[in-house]
Amino acid sequence: MGSNSELHRRRGAAVARGVASSLSVYAQRAQNAEIWDVEGRRYIDFASGISVLNTGHRHPRVVAALQQQIGDLTHACFQVTPYEAYVALCERLNALAPGASPKKSILFSTGAEAVENALKIARYHTRRSGVIAFSGAFHGRTLATMTLTGKVAPYKAGFGAMMPEVFHVPFPSAYHGVTPAHSLAAIEQLFKADVDPARVAALIIEPVQGEGGFYIAPPEFLRSLRVLCDSHGIVFVADEIQSGMARTGRMFAIEHAGVEPDLVTVAKSIAGGVPLSAVVGKAAIMDAPPPGGLGGTYAGSPLGCAAALAVLDVMAEEQLAERARALGSQVMTRLKALQAKCPAIGEVRGLGSMVAMELVKNRRADQPDAELTRALVQAAAARGLVILSCGVYGNVIRLLAPLTISEALLNEGLDVLEAALTDLTAGQMAATG
Ligand SMILES: Cc1ncc(COP(=O)(O)O)c(C=O)c1O
Repeated sequence: MGSNSELHRRRGAAVARGVASSLSVYAQRAQNAEIWDVEGRRYIDFASGISVLNTGHRHPRVVAALQQQIGDLTHACFQVTPYEAYVALCERLNALAPGASPKKSILFSTGAEAVENALKIARYHTRRSGVIAFSGAFHGRTLATMTLTGKVAPYKAGFGAMMPEVFHVPFPSAYHGVTPAHSLAAIEQLFKADVDPARVAALIIEPVQGEGGFYIAPPEFLRSLRVLCDSHGIVFVADEIQSGMARTGRMFAIEHAGVEPDLVTVAKSIAGGVPLSAVVGKAAIMDAPPPGGLGGTYAGSPLGCAAALAVLDVMAEEQLAERARALGSQVMTRLKALQAKCPAIGEVRGLGSMVAMELVKNRRADQPDAELTRALVQAAAARGLVILSCGVYGNVIRLLAPLTISEALLNEGLDVLEAALTDLTAGQMAATG
């Protein structure tokens, strides 16, 4: 195995540049909330492979389930010879999905694929094709999901024509002065100026925006959207790919608002690192497309299903939703204390363990500090902590430690974050002083 620099050189020659990495250290192995690179350096992981490892790296229960499954069956294709794990996982997801209506599920491999299929289901059910999405949203990189994504560079610029009849409206953010009333007025305006609501198949929203910057949709806003969708026959899709699976302190973030969406997309932490995704929703809508209209060769693979069933057991047994709330409140407390000393932290926000800090210049929400954010990601890594940035302006640090992390490791990681930011902003802190 090569050194980090040797691997980086090989990568430059062999890998298309369209896939970017935030760090140039190469992971060799990992356990729970720690990663070791090819040179033996250890990192505390506050990224979880972008929110995939709520149950940590290689949870022993997940590893055991995978080993058992590898011994029995690795592929059959559910469309050829179906298998029990797929059915069992759909039963579990139906029982977990928010709301009392009878549910059905269908499995896929990636998050974008789940969103694509939620759209197909909504289009078939309504026989309409329009979609309302939100600025700052991230729903994936395929053609349809790229269109839904509400950030131009690097996701849409240069990739040609987008899917027709997709409309973006502002996502509420108190910090940036966008109220739920603004967002609702933008939808009403859309219905007056751009599209007949009778042409709109679906409205898709992340209850907490992920890539967009960890903005939290206020519960009353989600409830208003539910009423709006009901009044126009629009399918309400909650994209819980990043916010789901216990991360925010409930299995799905939308549960905080007491709203039953029509369809929910699930991926990332559902299967502890094995590619698996799902659309879960009201049975009457889910059953709209006819047999053969949905599926995929690898969709709901036996390995993904086995891992996901183990993940769901771990989440229940280790009470990870509850733990997300406890850990999240510790992180919030630490970051708020840091904010009091550090003027670069414009806002600290979070729901459960989906916590972020927005970095700005001159304490102004309209002066994003993407440069400091980029520098902090690198400085933290140099000190042995992996963190991620996000936000339309690239000025938000998001913290997504595994929910299985020990308190000692969580605090060690937060100490590193604090030291790295303190170093980078020493001048500003002294001035505030
Ligand atoms: C909310 C949300 N939707 C969809 C996706 C796309 O998932 P994938 O990268 O697995 O296609 C992501 C990925 O970050 C996401 O955060």
